[in-house]
Amino acid sequence: MASGNDEGNTPNDDLWRLIGPVTDLSKKQCRLIYSALGYDSDVCLFYINGEFFAMDARCAHAGGPLCEGDIEEADGVLQVFCPWHDYDFNIRTGKSQTGLQQEVYEVKVEEGSVYVKHKSPLSLKPFPPSSKS
Ligand code: FES
Repeated sequence: MASGNDEGNTPNDDLWRLIGPVTDLSKKQCRLIYSALGYDSDVCLFYINGEFFAMDARCAHAGGPLCEGDIEEADGVLQVFCPWHDYDFNIRTGKSQTGLQQEVYEVKVEEGSVYVKHKSPLSLKPFPPSSKS
């Protein structure tokens, strides 16, 4: 699959990334999805109350691992709490009461497979390190 290197010119439909089958991905409440762009662009895929959500995996505050955070629901609002400094992030919107904003991504389920709309290829396994000299 081609990956463009020009910004802003990619048709939106090309950004849907196949992650895997619902039957597997619905077994865990949160899992880390690797981005081809590297560590800072990895994504958390949440599965809560029968719904999938995707959010940047590294906390907007100082990079904490949100996939390891506690998930709570209060008054119908789903939140993940960063394990490093306990900042809250709304899992649907990415907003924190601290004023920080975590990037969230659209998720769709089609024919038993989960897709996340993201600028880079995504994978359940780490991408090989790019060779830099
Ligand atoms: S790194 Fe997440 S709250 Fe500080």
